[in-house]
Amino acid sequence: MSALFSPFELKSVRLRNRVAIPPMCQYSAIDGVTNDWHLAHYAGLARGGAGLVIVEATAVSPEGRITPGCTGLWNDEQAQGMARIASAIKAHGAVPGIQIAHAGRKASANRPWEGDDHIGEDDSRGWPTLSPSAVPFGAHLGKVPKAMTIDDIERVKGDFVAAARRALAAGFEWLELHFAHGYLAQSFFSLHANHRDDAYGGDLAGRSRFLLETLAAVRDVWPEHLPLTARFGVIEYDGRDEETLAESIALTRQMRESGLDLLNVSVGFSTPAAKIPWGSAFLAPIAERVKKEAGIAVASSWGIDDPHAADRVVADGQMDLVMIGRALLANPHWPYYAARELDVARPSWVLPAPYAHWLERYQVQRAAG
Ligand SMILES: Cc1cc2nc3c(=O)[nH]c(=O)nc-3n(C[C@H](O)[C@H](O)[C@H](O)COP(=O)(O)O)c2cc1C
Repeated sequence: MSALFSPFELKSVRLRNRVAIPPMCQYSAIDGVTNDWHLAHYAGLARGGAGLVIVEATAVSPEGRITPGCTGLWNDEQAQGMARIASAIKAHGAVPGIQIAHAGRKASANRPWEGDDHIGEDDSRGWPTLSPSAVPFGAHLGKVPKAMTIDDIERVKGDFVAAARRALAAGFEWLELHFAHGYLAQSFFSLHANHRDDAYGGDLAGRSRFLLETLAAVRDVWPEHLPLTARFGVIEYDGRDEETLAESIALTRQMRESGLDLLNVSVGFSTPAAKIPWGSAFLAPIAERVKKEAGIAVASSWGIDDPHAADRVVADGQMDLVMIGRALLANPHWPYYAARELDVARPSWVLPAPYAHWLERYQVQRAAG
């Protein structure tokens, strides 16, 4: 029995297997509104057989977009487009999830394939950025953000709540708060970005405040029976990894007590000086530690493209869900390929009947011939 292809239940949601598709920005929206690209892309990913499809980082406000092409959920037109996507994902048997986000000091950037750097100050496509402190990320993202006032903090928390309400109305059943990757929430937690001396900075409690308050405010409007999750960078690979991990695990425990149902364990990406040990499934032992020490269900990704490796991290109890990103871009039917590799009975039926019927016959013919 393959661990990867066993179902997973969280709250009232049941995933048909442990393959989850992590949020992956398409940078292809106009004014935050999705279009045919997004619909075809997400329908195709869901059709491939994954249990969960999480729609890309979707900004809670215009200034929270990473690039001008990022999706948004700050108005009803955007929500209508997202409703079509949620419905398409569901129609193909996957659970529709969405990540809501504010990019903080990394916002106002060019698309990755157009430079990945901050849009120039004299370019009308750009906008002022926000962060806990007026400290730029550095390297290719050198724009100096505005240090947020308490009013700014209150407004952004409200934007997260409004976006969560729209996500629910659009039909999403799994919400992921983007607290990772050097964006706004991660910046509040990170010593690299947060130099505040008020209640939102300083010690662990101060640097955790924005995340915990945002989580609690969203939990109030997101139904208790649906999973509320977060993606959080628990480690920076900046030389103070043990301290960061201990703080991250302490915060994760608090988030769990405040209603978090699962943590998508990731990297902080708060400093360009990080030395990340890229390699197959390099985060798996870290995810396992968070799962055990914080007592919460976890998912994780980064460099897992081999079905046997994906199966192993679930079988060994390192992760509850495996996030498969780029391998799914390369092959949207990766779950079918993985099911075959893992000797799942009738692997074709990971796909919908109009494909599965023919593939099963084809396999039988090939085996006989
Ligand atoms: C095109 C692309 C877009 C991404 N966009 C997001 C995003 O919107 N939110 C996020 O948390 N991570 C994002 N990521 C990171 C992925 O979710 C994932 O963690 C990463 O690709 C590593 O997993 P993999 O090795 O299976 O690809 C993105 C990655 C890619 C390749």
